[in-house]
Amino acid sequence: MFNFEHRFETLTPISPWILAPRGATQVGAPATETRPDPRRLAETVQGRVAVVTGGATGLGRATALEFAQRGTAVGINYVDLPDRDVAEQALLTETAIRALGVPVYCAKCDVRQRDDVEKFVTTVRERLGGVHLIVNIASHQAFRPGFGIANYAASKAALIGLTRSAAVDLGPSSINVNAVAPGFVKTDLLSTLPREVLERAEHESVLGRVAEPEDVARVIVFLCSEGARHITGQVIVVDGGLTLAS
Ligand SMILES: NC(=O)c1ccc[n+]([C@@H]2O[C@H](COP(=O)([O-])OP(=O)(O)OC[C@H]3O[C@@H](n4cnc5c(N)ncnc54)[C@H](O)[C@@H]3O)[C@@H](O)[C@H]2O)c1
Repeated sequence: MFNFEHRFETLTPISPWILAPRGATQVGAPATETRPDPRRLAETVQGRVAVVTGGATGLGRATALEFAQRGTAVGINYVDLPDRDVAEQALLTETAIRALGVPVYCAKCDVRQRDDVEKFVTTVRERLGGVHLIVNIASHQAFRPGFGIANYAASKAALIGLTRSAAVDLGPSSINVNAVAPGFVKTDLLSTLPREVLERAEHESVLGRVAEPEDVARVIVFLCSEGARHITGQVIVVDGGLTLAS
């Protein structure tokens, strides 16, 4: 999760959307210069622009909706997946956000294709007025991999390495970089796993349950808020205590 707020406020033209009422952070000011008002912390993502990759479905959709409910404009990208109606789900998510009165841009864009990503981000900046928040998601499997998922575990561990090193590189520009590592979450992705894996996950979780997508989405939004301004380079595990089990 990259919090680009301070950098992009200085690099991009200020749009009417960005000028909407929000927290008291000054343009281009280092994060340490202002003291967040506890009464207004919930508003500090209002008027910002978040890019939620994979925001059509599951965790991405829940995160996009959490942002939208707090007045954050949202850019969503997705790809088609085998045996899934992702394009239809994307339209549903886009419609739900629009119904909240929040600007949204939704497009098919494969994050593995550099040209597509550059086009998507350029369009988000043109239509929504900038990019302040980008959300990426790791996994508990980076720490405690199950059988046969070496590629998945390696990619999530790499994302954590990227998060930490980007925090070091971007900290001097007042950009916070953090990651969320969920345990099992009730999404379509989860329904592809054997039932016994889920039952074991519920049983081994200290809280005795599998997460709802909103359980993770709210942590992501918090990490993007002014309330988390002194957190960077961290991985917040949101797994109901699953990784505590031996
Ligand atoms: N569901 C879980 O239990 C769980 C647990 C830990 C971590 N995660 C992570 O959370 C994230 C979301 O998972 P989910 O459960 O919501 O899955 P999901 O399959 O519902 O959503 C994934 C979304 O990502 C999009 N996507 C996939 N590849 C893409 C690409 N190359 N470019 C652009 N978009 C792409 C898809 O179109 C889809 O909208 C994933 O990174 C997953 O690894 C999920």
